[in-house]
Amino acid sequence: MATSMVCLVALCLVSPLLLAGAVLGNPGYGGLFPQFYDHSCPKAKEIVHSIVAQAVARETRMAASLVRLHFHDCFVKGCDASVLLDNSTNIVSEKGSNPNKNSIRGFEVVDEIKVALETACPGTVSCADILALAVGGPYWDVPLGRRDSLGASIQGSNNDIPAPNNTLPTIITKFKRLGLNIVDVVALSGGHTIGLSRCTSFRQRLYNQSGNGLADSTLDVSYAAQLRQGCPRSGGDDNLFPLDIVTSTKFDNFYFKNILAGRGLLSSDEVLLTKSAETAALVKAYANDVHLFFQHFAQSMVNMGNISPLTGSQGEIRKNCRRLNNFH
Ligand code: HEM
Ligand SMILES: *[C@@H]1O[C@H](CO)[C@@H](O)[C@H](O)[C@H]1NC(C)=O
Ligand SMILES: *[C@@H]1O[C@H](CO)[C@@H](O)[C@H](O)[C@H]1NC(C)=O
Ligand SMILES: *[C@@H]1O[C@H](CO)[C@@H](O)[C@H](O)[C@H]1NC(C)=O
Repeated sequence: MATSMVCLVALCLVSPLLLAGAVLGNPGYGGLFPQFYDHSCPKAKEIVHSIVAQAVARETRMAASLVRLHFHDCFVKGCDASVLLDNSTNIVSEKGSNPNKNSIRGFEVVDEIKVALETACPGTVSCADILALAVGGPYWDVPLGRRDSLGASIQGSNNDIPAPNNTLPTIITKFKRLGLNIVDVVALSGGHTIGLSRCTSFRQRLYNQSGNGLADSTLDVSYAAQLRQGCPRSGGDDNLFPLDIVTSTKFDNFYFKNILAGRGLLSSDEVLLTKSAETAALVKAYANDVHLFFQHFAQSMVNMGNISPLTGSQGEIRKNCRRLNNFH
């Protein structure tokens, strides 16, 4: 593809071996590669990591919020920073969609990173790559070279991001449409080992719905009682609960152990165990082997990060992640 040749040729001058790896070894990378900014902005990774580290030191939850921001970016028209755009004349922001409204966060940290990068290397590092680097940077090699979108899609945001009460087949379909498989579904759901959810995202599981009898019977009884205390039948929509009740600020495999114990918070977490033998086997494997989970999580994050990137001369490198360079 001509568009991705621009950066590949640049890399080719630098290292024919890396080029061979990027192109031949990893055809799924869509022209992205970890060394993309090594010459144009050698401090890029360091700048991103240090600002993320400071933000997480101020507020632990920010690590989770940034992971989710990258996910909600990649699931809508690919990883192109569309989620970061604010409303403007020609743009209806994805920030107002059902999955994002009153929920998605971390934009100020992205702004802070962008300002630092524009100072160090103006017009060079994309907002989409900031999101990818913020999450994976310290832990695995993040393929880079994404460019930023010239638009947003609120319809995409409403339709393509799985909802917590989607059935398992619907969730799997939403992943498959983007080229992600069952392992990706279960491993990436493990992102819920950190972070918080609002009451409104799981209330449906706690109370009798008209006509359908008991509340969700897969929930551990005492866990359900605990949840009802902070998540009443009505009101308290924004009350927050850990997605991982045991170690909510630690990236470990308790998310999977919790599911086995009827303590998965969202319906979408619980169905991984009860609605398919294949996903259930993965839940059990990750609950038993934290290293297997980490390995699959890292690979699946790379897979997710490779969804339809803009490369070459497509899109632009935004100066401000919230708006197009040519904004009105
Ligand atoms: C499988 C389908 C998924 C569904 C249905 C889902 C749904 C949700 C919901 C409903 C919340 C709570 C939002 C709120 O109430 O404000 C949430 C939070 C979160 N999700 Fe997911 N999610 C899914 C997959 C993922 C993936 C793939 C990742 C990343 C790899 C991820 C990472 C997170 C994180 C880290 C949080 C906590 C964010 C914070 O505390 O700010 N989720 N998710
Ligand atoms: C963007 O504007 C639309 C109306 O045009 C509004 O419904 C929506 O809430 C706004 N989104 C945000 C994030 O402010
Ligand atoms: C899922 O939740 C949404 C938002 O709360 C609700 O409108 C919808 O009816 C629910 N769907 C199902 C199948 O329960
Ligand atoms: C749920 O509703 C049914 C009938 O509507 C009732 O018999 C049952 O006791 C209720 N269960 C709970 C847990 O409230």
